[in-house]
Amino acid sequence: MAKRVYIFDTTLRDGEQVPGCQLNTEEKIRVAKALEELGVDVIEAGFPISSPGDFNSVVEISKAVKEPIVCALTRAKEMDIDSAAEALRFAKRKRIHTGIGSSDMHIQYKLRTTREKVIEQGVAAVKYARKFVDDVEFFCEDAGRADVVFLAQMVEAVIAAGATVVNIPDTTGYTLPWQFGERIKYLMDNVKNVDKAIISAHCHNDLGLATANAIAAIANGARQVECTINGIGERAGNTSLEEVAMIIKSHPSLGIETGINTKKLVPTSDLVSSLMRMPVQANKAIVGKNAFAHSSGIHQDGFLKHRENYEIIDPSDVGADASSIVLTARSGRAALSHRLTTIGYQLSKEQLDQVYKKFLDMADQRKQIEDADLNELMAPYC
Ligand code: KIV
Ligand code: ZN
Repeated sequence: MAKRVYIFDTTLRDGEQVPGCQLNTEEKIRVAKALEELGVDVIEAGFPISSPGDFNSVVEISKAVKEPIVCALTRAKEMDIDSAAEALRFAKRKRIHTGIGSSDMHIQYKLRTTREKVIEQGVAAVKYARKFVDDVEFFCEDAGRADVVFLAQMVEAVIAAGATVVNIPDTTGYTLPWQFGERIKYLMDNVKNVDKAIISAHCHNDLGLATANAIAAIANGARQVECTINGIGERAGNTSLEEVAMIIKSHPSLGIETGINTKKLVPTSDLVSSLMRMPVQANKAIVGKNAFAHSSGIHQDGFLKHRENYEIIDPSDVGADASSIVLTARSGRAALSHRLTTIGYQLSKEQLDQVYKKFLDMADQRKQIEDADLNELMAPYC
């Protein structure tokens, strides 16, 4: 039987940190409801101590959603945890997400403390958070660059203190997929109480590896992935939710399933993109405008003969419009003939040869050929 991987969405926290992407409370509630319909397991709704607006958004999202766990971020400090517990008071299912740096870089140059003190502070934060909620997630910040033996000690200590989920972030997006996978495997094999908690992967995309690293983590025992719609997030962004969901769905051999209703992926992507005024790049996997558009002659011919020659995903499975054939100077006779037939022209082979030459001249000038251009091209034949 397939194992369940939990989808932790942080669009409204890590995603919302992106310059220019800030949302008001009403907009955040719309996104939270869309995430609930999409089927995410956890919504990270904000960082309540950071501002009164963020605090209020966590309160309102807690009231607005029923199914997903609502999670609030804190530093490993009592004042942050008090604020998160207060903001989550209306949540039906709630989680506090607390944590501290785990790499020597962060311990020496950011926190200016010692390994021992960091573990002490982390353990105290988990114990304090457990006074308010049963579900406490602990993040070991910059775990991708931490000494793995120390990281294992930290994970063991916070689980013993009551953490139910331990987040292993590749905060700087530095690791390679097999290195991140080995890191997770090391924790699964060496933390003696690891079966008492869920291990989570939170990967950043500084080298374009966030999704690959998250998948490597799952393959090695992680059971929660932290991701965002459209992969938005701090700097180059986070693991993209739509990519993780479709990788898992497209590869049953992984033996993994999620609760995501994939037909909602494109509508949710559109909503987040428009509310945040953050366009999605055209070639973005799954949700980009060109994800199901075929433009070269060889591909168009193969696609028209059998869709799966060039598509591994049916666009309707992700809520996208039907695949499209884009007519350009790279298109072949098959694509031109297909479009002309679709809009009502029947041509002999000789006519098609003649029209195709004119089509190429026109396409060299106009770049993309639309139906109106084709009607113009066909006027002498009607
Ligand atoms: O990237 C990171 O380490 C984070 C933590 C706050 C979880 O976003
Ligand atoms: Zn992050």
